Amino acid sequence: MAERPSSGASNGGTDLAERRLAERRAESDVPAVIQRVGVVGCGLMGSGIAEVCARAGLNVVVVEAGQEALAAGRRRVEASLAKAVDRGKLAPEGRADALELIAFSTRMADLADRELVVEAVVERFDVKAAVFEQLDAVTGPGTILASNTSSIPIMRLAMMTRRPEEVLGLHFFNPVPVMRLVELVTSLLTDDTTAVRATDFVEQVLHKRIVRSKDRAGFIVNALLIPYLLSAIRMMESGFATAADIDAGMVEGCAHPMGPLALSDLIGLDTVAAVAESLYDEFKEPLYAPPPLLDRMCEAGLLGRKVGRGFYDYNGRV
Ligand code: NAI
Repeated sequence: MAERPSSGASNGGTDLAERRLAERRAESDVPAVIQRVGVVGCGLMGSGIAEVCARAGLNVVVVEAGQEALAAGRRRVEASLAKAVDRGKLAPEGRADALELIAFSTRMADLADRELVVEAVVERFDVKAAVFEQLDAVTGPGTILASNTSSIPIMRLAMMTRRPEEVLGLHFFNPVPVMRLVELVTSLLTDDTTAVRATDFVEQVLHKRIVRSKDRAGFIVNALLIPYLLSAIRMMESGFATAADIDAGMVEGCAHPMGPLALSDLIGLDTVAAVAESLYDEFKEPLYAPPPLLDRMCEAGLLGRKVGRGFYDYNGRV
């Protein structure tokens, strides 16, 4: 496990959780490392999660809502693998090997033998709740059920199952093959074995860096990021500055790799709005409320890069 610098300040339950994890890892009853993974939803995030798992040599079953979305998800994985080969990040034979490890399906029942299932469907509680109910029915004890939610409290999803002790949040970042971070979110009821297995999986199999967050809407990263993105949208909406100047300000002035409006387009404006709603629901702070321009763009279907237009026009270069 990577060493982390001490913050000096007490972070209460997080240090305790780390100590308990270390103790549990030392015990012999923690099951072996996960090798069979399921992914529900194969959009921006699900396709990336499936890809990194297959590239790590794991057997992956991807489940989508319908044939059309499944075909689109498969194309997304293929295109991303091709890009990795073009950029010299993956050997040409690695692309075929990874694809061979992924089975694409529209039936939840095909997840029955999985040791870990990561849910990555749209950021809507009703849709995710139905998925967790189905996952609980098709998988048995011993299968960890994880959500990639950006903002929905894990407890609410865990309570849709009969075994909340095996439910936790594994929040990957976009694009998954490139971004090293995973936020690990345990609810009040997640047990230590589940947390240890998930930690070992992320760190030792996927070689990603974990940060641990309490189960509060937005966790660490989006609780900080979303108010910033919303401020940029409000700034543009009020006519204070253009999108290009707002983004250039943060890229050239603060050395951010991309500006807040380009980043909102990359995340997907529907996802930004949904995360803002969850944060607002939880904390009732005006800084989390989605600005009207964001809602209008979502209603217009201008969702960002994934549809070719958001704050910028990507037609011809999506
Ligand atoms: P997306 O809209 O690209 O993909 C969602 C996929 O879920 C679609 O392909 C849809 O067909 C599928 N789906 C919907 N209902 C389903 C069901 N019942 N069964 C199976 N598949 C179903 O959304 P995206 O961006 O991939 O987001 C997915 C999750 O990941 C959300 O919870 C989001 O908050 C989270 N997330 C998104 C990030 C981003 O940058 N877009 C970053 C980190 C997390």
